[in-house]
Amino acid sequence: MAGFVAGGLCGTRAGTARAVAERNGFGIRADRCRRRAASVRMSGTNGMFTPSEKKKVIVLGGDGFCGWPTALYLSEIGHDVIIVDNLSRRAIDLELECDSLTPIQSMGERLKVWKQVSGKEIPFHFFDVAKSYELLRELIAREKPDAVVHFAEQRAAPYSMKGPYQKKYTIDNNVNGTHNLLCAIVESGLDVHVVHLGTMGVYGYGTSGGEIPEGYIDVTLPGGRESNILHPMSPGSVYHMTKCLDQLLFQFYQRNDELRITDLHQGIVWGTNTPWTKKDERLINRFDYDSDYGTVLNRFLMQAAMGYPLTVYGTGGQTRAFIHIEDTAKCIGLAIENPPKSGDRVEIFNQIAETHRVRDLAKIIADLTGCEVKSVNNPRKEAAENELEVSNKKFRSLGYEPISLGTGLLEEVTQVADKYKDRCDVDKIMPSSFWNKKIEEQCTDDVKKPDADDVDESLLNAIAKGDPKKVEKLKEVLRGN
Ligand SMILES: NC(=O)c1ccc[n+]([C@@H]2O[C@H](COP(=O)([O-])OP(=O)(O)OC[C@H]3O[C@@H](n4cnc5c(N)ncnc54)[C@H](O)[C@@H]3O)[C@@H](O)[C@H]2O)c1
Repeated sequence: MAGFVAGGLCGTRAGTARAVAERNGFGIRADRCRRRAASVRMSGTNGMFTPSEKKKVIVLGGDGFCGWPTALYLSEIGHDVIIVDNLSRRAIDLELECDSLTPIQSMGERLKVWKQVSGKEIPFHFFDVAKSYELLRELIAREKPDAVVHFAEQRAAPYSMKGPYQKKYTIDNNVNGTHNLLCAIVESGLDVHVVHLGTMGVYGYGTSGGEIPEGYIDVTLPGGRESNILHPMSPGSVYHMTKCLDQLLFQFYQRNDELRITDLHQGIVWGTNTPWTKKDERLINRFDYDSDYGTVLNRFLMQAAMGYPLTVYGTGGQTRAFIHIEDTAKCIGLAIENPPKSGDRVEIFNQIAETHRVRDLAKIIADLTGCEVKSVNNPRKEAAENELEVSNKKFRSLGYEPISLGTGLLEEVTQVADKYKDRCDVDKIMPSSFWNKKIEEQCTDDVKKPDADDVDESLLNAIAKGDPKKVEKLKEVLRGN
């Protein structure tokens, strides 16, 4: 393990709080331990550190794209990790008739291989955190975790806009899951730090006119009253709305029950492997490339590997925040290491490395791979162009040195896309979820009309026997005029 920091230990350990809770018995609220925020920092470019204390961490959603590599990372740096997942993401693969590009193994196989390569055991519990409240409550009471990392939500904005079933499912699953967790912790009486994966999308994707701070903003209310409030929310999909509702649940449970909560407003995650998933081919992480779950950079890399034009929505002027999957895991390690004190307001970090316009990203991939870039109608209802300036000062102050697109890992992901391209179903890349009926009509019209400019000019010339007027006529026919 390279790069290392010894940090300040908390004044009161979670173990002490656990002991208090144990003495009080399950169901009776223990005094919350007063913690100093630890001052452990990352160091070295690979940013790994040895935690100041070994913790027991339950990872909800530990079979997913972010959850799996994070569970391995936390296990690698010495924490005791337990995974909970209902494998709903794998079930959605069946519903969408699509699969991870990379051949992910069953949970049993993954955990067996991790034990072989690391010597460490990760217990797995298969249940639905949104529906099986009792199982969640009993697990927390039995295991007495120091922290619960909450990834277990339906996370694709397009999927959440696909139709009424998916909208309702996303609300039920995400809001109930988060509420069950908070409620179960209160009922346990334990001092459990919640680390939740939120999204930059809670702030909305319009131009805010200034830097987006980490969660809270100073405002002057009518009458000149100064206040510090949650940054205004502006969700752009049902999925993003659930993350806004999560924020309100956190505010309430922190104020009412003094739960210690960290909400990580994460950017779009790119990449697939991490040093821990690379230890054995059977530990490989999932790689989604379809239009519902594939994040923009992974979709572009897939199109490039297949020799297709990179499809940019509209002008591609949307600016988004990005983070590499390895940094996702490391930031969660840092968040666990630096919990808020009991009684502190909800800690919010912007978990991002950099921001880019989508068309600039497409250009980077086009330059790397020699692919064309093509504009298609945007299936989403969103600003065509936006600026995005985001603060990530808190993570930076802990020594976080993010992986950026320029670090060479882009080539590595390109190789992954290329290696498994035979498993790709290209029909799944073009949009299949639309934000409303009008947008759907515009987008499907686009698909139905043949694009005359895509047809080989020499073929048209051959058919028209070189007559430029006939070539023009053929193009008009192709355009549907
Ligand atoms: N991937 C990104 O780009 C990104 C960006 C910002 C935020 N996030 C957030 O990070 C979290 C994880 O994202 P991901 O990309 O790993 O998604 P994912 O869909 O790959 O993983 C989520 C996991 O949670 C499980 N799950 C869902 N609902 C559950 C339930 N009710 N009970 C038990 N398990 C359940 C799924 O089976 C899946 O394994 C999400 O909350 C997401 O909103 C992700």
